[in-house]
Amino acid sequence: MTAQRGAPVTLGITGASGAPYAVRVLRALNDTGTAVRLIVSTYGWRLLAEETGIDGVAALQTATGDWSRVDLYDALDRGATPASGSAPSAGMVICPCSMGTLASIAAGTSRNLVERAADVALKERRPLILVPRETPLSLVHLENMVRLTRAGAVVMPAAPGFYHRPKSIDDLVDFVAARVLDHLGIEHSVGRRWKSGEGQGTGDRGQGTGDRGQGTAGNGGAR
Ligand SMILES: Cc1cc2nc3c(=O)[nH]c(=O)nc-3n(C[C@H](O)[C@H](O)[C@H](O)COP(=O)(O)O)c2cc1C
Repeated sequence: MTAQRGAPVTLGITGASGAPYAVRVLRALNDTGTAVRLIVSTYGWRLLAEETGIDGVAALQTATGDWSRVDLYDALDRGATPASGSAPSAGMVICPCSMGTLASIAAGTSRNLVERAADVALKERRPLILVPRETPLSLVHLENMVRLTRAGAVVMPAAPGFYHRPKSIDDLVDFVAARVLDHLGIEHSVGRRWKSGEGQGTGDRGQGTGDRGQGTAGNGGAR
């Protein structure tokens, strides 16, 4: 494990479907030695329990590796460190991001610490990556996403691709988690990068050989 340099990343987990993405992102951040400020909304905890069986902090720790660089904050405490722009931060990810949290950030209402920390990321012009999940999307959802994109956020729907021919749910989860880490600028070994067929050794365009864990990842072809 190589400790990533720099200020902590804030990770918000909210109550949209997609808790496995959150678990994977946190584990990857821990694997890379990234300092994490973790905030889980009330419904974030509920979805962790419903979708992954993780029923509290101890279970989340067990599922996500080394917590020596994780600070967990009470989502109801809007006075905690992530609420202040004076606290150094490398940016924030909300994964998954509910439509409720998305709307609150778009409106700047800061009803809890997840939303306040996101508001801070925007005002401080720091990276803010939102991983929403809902279908279908209403005009309200779409307009909120446009508003947030205009304000500087990256809206990255939890929509894994299939061109790398996933064989398992883990492959699909890795796809989304890898894109999140890419946008944070964190080197990682999650998932596989797309490379087109030439010289891949498999003769199969869909598979590629970009198994990042094997050190064969390409760069230019990631989508
Ligand atoms: C089982 C379950 C699944 C849900 N799935 C979604 C979802 O995919 N997207 C969404 O925006 N909200 C979803 N919700 C609703 C949110 O959890 C709800 O709006 C909540 O108030 C969000 O609060 P938070 O953003 O503070 O976590 C779901 C709720 C439950 C109980």
